[in-house]
Amino acid sequence: MALIPYDDTAAAAFAAGRELGREGLVRWRQAVQHHLRPRSGSTLLDLGAGTGIWAGAFADWYAVRVLAVEPAPAMRSRCAHRPLLGGHAAELPLATSSVDGAWLSTMIHHVDDLEAMARELRRVLRPGAPVLIRSPFPGRHQRIALFGWFPEALRILDTYPGLAIVRAAFARAGFPVSTVEPVAQTVAGSLAEYAERMDRRAHTPLQLITEAEYAAGMARLRAAVGTVDGPIVDCLDLLVLR
Ligand SMILES: C[S@@+](CC[C@H](N)C(=O)[O-])C[C@H]1O[C@@H](n2cnc3c(N)ncnc32)[C@H](O)[C@@H]1O
Repeated sequence: MALIPYDDTAAAAFAAGRELGREGLVRWRQAVQHHLRPRSGSTLLDLGAGTGIWAGAFADWYAVRVLAVEPAPAMRSRCAHRPLLGGHAAELPLATSSVDGAWLSTMIHHVDDLEAMARELRRVLRPGAPVLIRSPFPGRHQRIALFGWFPEALRILDTYPGLAIVRAAFARAGFPVSTVEPVAQTVAGSLAEYAERMDRRAHTPLQLITEAEYAAGMARLRAAVGTVDGPIVDCLDLLVLR
């Protein structure tokens, strides 16, 4: 069971509020290329693909086959990427040793059983193929703008699986080596755009704080518009496990 229900309302808000311009993702393009070393003909799994933001980008950037797997019908109905399969982390609808890399973007905190997910990924990945996890991790929020404006959301982030827990689960499943690095992404061209696009229904940590806490954060954010120059750049972590 995901931390929030990915029903029609959440899926619509996600599609509207979390779409990132490709030009702001150049660092992710470079970082993923570095670790994945994509070759034409290779197959990448996008697990918990949501609306297909990353599956579409990887297919365009690297000319690889991207298999999107997503459990929520409301997210799948907004995903234009193909092939797209229904399925979830603990039971992947894929053959053993059939993929050359796995991409898990902002989804691990929704997975009940990390150990089962790691075992399934070990099964479907070819030997030596990497798992790439893009995620905020507890204690590593300092360069994510949302937690600056909504510090109450840190108590939600603190419930997400930490780096040590994720590394240990994957090590037990047969991924003993890992690296982690922060990767920058432009999330809005300006603070005004950031405030305008902010929608709590598109962000799990904001859905799980109170109405009053959300309102206070939005008031802080709106009051600051015009006082901060330049684009809004976040750094999420890229955890790579082999
Ligand atoms: C925040 S969205 C991220 C979507 C996409 N990965 C992205 O970064 O744009 C989290 C996604 O994880 C999916 N999810 C939740 N539990 C899952 C599970 N057990 N296995 C696979 N996906 C899951 C949700 O349905 C949702 O689409």
